[in-house]
Amino acid sequence: MTWMKVAKATDIAVGSMVRVDIEDNPVAVYHAEDGFYATSDTCTHAAQSLSEGRLDGCIISCPKHGGKFDIRTGAAVAFPCVYPVETYDVEVRDGEVWVDV
Ligand code: FES
Repeated sequence: MTWMKVAKATDIAVGSMVRVDIEDNPVAVYHAEDGFYATSDTCTHAAQSLSEGRLDGCIISCPKHGGKFDIRTGAAVAFPCVYPVETYDVEVRDGEVWVDV
């Protein structure tokens, strides 16, 4: 695993997320009310970009068919999603968001 700096913390508003491509690996970085999280950006149902969806608390809703994942664990929590998304550790260092990919 390698820590990568992906954004300034102030560039991701609370309740929003961004997609970053790290060595051909799309990662969604979320700013939830209790901190930052990161998952694979690719929905495990049909490869939709999750960062184009809607974040409610710690639940990301896929914009394509409405499946949902818990961004803290990657668990699929709503049909049609049944397989989890990969999660990554996140740290904020001196105002910069780092992801362990
Ligand atoms: S592609 Fe995400 S729920 Fe179908």
